[in-house]
Amino acid sequence: MSRTVYVNGHYLPEADAKVSIFDRAFLMADAVYEVSAVLGGKLADFDGHMARLHRSLDALQIPSPATDEELLAIHHELIRLNGIDDGLVYLQVTRGNVGDRDFIWPKDAPPSLVMFTQTKHFEDDEGPRRGIKVVSVPDLRWGRRDIKTVQLLYSSFAKMQAKAQGADDAWLVEDGFVTEGTSNNAYIVTRDGTIVTRNLTQDILHGITRASVLKLAAEAQMKIVERPFTIAEAQDAAEAFITAASTFVCPVVAIDEAQIGDGKPGPVARRLREIYLENAEATAV
Ligand code: PDD
Repeated sequence: MSRTVYVNGHYLPEADAKVSIFDRAFLMADAVYEVSAVLGGKLADFDGHMARLHRSLDALQIPSPATDEELLAIHHELIRLNGIDDGLVYLQVTRGNVGDRDFIWPKDAPPSLVMFTQTKHFEDDEGPRRGIKVVSVPDLRWGRRDIKTVQLLYSSFAKMQAKAQGADDAWLVEDGFVTEGTSNNAYIVTRDGTIVTRNLTQDILHGITRASVLKLAAEAQMKIVERPFTIAEAQDAAEAFITAASTFVCPVVAIDEAQIGDGKPGPVARRLREIYLENAEATAV
């Protein structure tokens, strides 16, 4: 069945949705995006995703195409039109069609807003059930990874490399330390039960799921330290896991072919997934 998608004020069948070849997203990856999870027809962590969208837009001096109330209404309409129960809503704001290819961008270009839904049956997801395998690859992305831009070619390349090696995903490494996963934040649980994840700088995306999971972990009296860690430390950890809107909390059971713990999803990751989902369902809008 054809999806109904949203482009600049119009709800259209996906085949009729078009943007200009002069859109700077197409020519220069000049665009930012958000991915929000839909659980039971409602949006998880929506306020966090909107706050980060504005942070990304401000960093690139792209005007906001709509108010948060309008964006929420469009999300809801797409969920309704496409009958999404569990899935994702993708939102992209581009600097728009600026008429010509030019490295200088005009200050007053009206942005483009594109949104669409994807069905995803989270409960059928193999990854969280069996745990995923990751391999390490060098982090060769640009230096403003805190801005959620659509420049995802290296992330995609790294994930393809992981797949070619028989793994599920890659952890990116810079100056000897893990930054994050290709499309998720990375964590370990030390043998004394401390949750360790890289501190927030321009080196990583400030994950919205990360913020919620750390808040819930702190409320559950779990110990958290935000600092970089190495692949060797991760391989020696009791557990490892990732977080993202597309997978919530997902255990990692092998890193560069070294088994983590007993090679099965660990109790901390499983518990965090449970409490995250419980909270996300209760607070979804
Ligand atoms: N990716 N780090 C990177 C590089 C990401 O691309 C993502 C999300 C995250 C996790 O952020 P959040 O918890 O806000 O989803 C961390 C989305 C899901 C994607 O590109 O599909």
